[in-house]
Amino acid sequence: MKLSKLSVRSRTVLVGALAIGGMLASVAPAANAAPVARATATAPATVLAAPDISLANVKAHLTQFSSIAAANGGNRAHGRPGYLASVNYVKGKLDAAGFTTSVQQFSSGGSVGYNLIADWPGGDPNQVVMAGAHLDSVTSGAGINDNGSGSAAVLETALAVSRAGLQPTKHLRFAWWGAEELGLVGSRYYTNNLPSAERAKLDGYLNFDMIGSSNAGYFVYDDDPAIEQTFKTYFAGLGVPTEIETEGDGRSDHASFKNIGIPVGGLFTGAGRTKTSAQVQKWGGTAGQAFDRCYHSSCDTTASINDTALNRNSDAIAYAIWELAS
Ligand code: TRP
Ligand code: ZN
Repeated sequence: MKLSKLSVRSRTVLVGALAIGGMLASVAPAANAAPVARATATAPATVLAAPDISLANVKAHLTQFSSIAAANGGNRAHGRPGYLASVNYVKGKLDAAGFTTSVQQFSSGGSVGYNLIADWPGGDPNQVVMAGAHLDSVTSGAGINDNGSGSAAVLETALAVSRAGLQPTKHLRFAWWGAEELGLVGSRYYTNNLPSAERAKLDGYLNFDMIGSSNAGYFVYDDDPAIEQTFKTYFAGLGVPTEIETEGDGRSDHASFKNIGIPVGGLFTGAGRTKTSAQVQKWGGTAGQAFDRCYHSSCDTTASINDTALNRNSDAIAYAIWELAS
């Protein structure tokens, strides 16, 4: 679904009004200097509209992750063949779309692990906006919500960048992390091995881990204010209330970036915690049940995905990437 309520002009004004935090101070100077120009029909948009991310495409990636797990002992866990098969699936899509990909190897628990990094050519190399998701599952299941959902949505957003031929002001980098389930191992390896000159170029990191929980809530990470506000603005446009994510801050790969001082943000639809009746009033669903009853279990399959939540969050990712990179 698209954020169609806001015209190009009102989006421009909105972005200007929101440029308060550290990261989103990127409104074109001309727009601030000459507000009158924005009122004319011919004024260029400050930010191009983000595309609608196809739920069907995101779900097709989930079907592939599901098949990969089925063909590899039922999971996509670190050190198991289903993990590397997942990396190769995502890498193949990105390579075909024109990304510059690299696979970073690390070792954990006696097995080789892999991070997949994909750079979109162009943009200011000194201002890098990054988005990522962990691609590994636990050993007990296929990990379709945790975290096929974030992996598929970030992949489809990257493919949308390619289809749009996006030429963002900032450089875009996407990442799929290994061994998150063993303690954020892959993302920590990446940040620990990032030279300080490279760290300094990172404007922000957006994390997506579990965004299609069956009994979904709409949680926004409460870290960098500008990133947080970008997501809140998107959901406000949909008329969907959000809450701050509190189910274990530091329990996903954004923590690796936060630890080295990078501004972070992200989205989450809930894991093992129980949905309250107040939250059911906001979002529907079932009170007294977990946001994801299949969290870390064998029933985390395509059947347990909430399409509405996955669709909204996928569109929110694209919206944030388009806004924050321009
Ligand atoms: N990353 C956790 C896992 O894979 C899930 C999780 C729990 C989470 N709390 C979170 C993800 C908060 C993001 C934010 O087990
Ligand atoms: Zn998990």
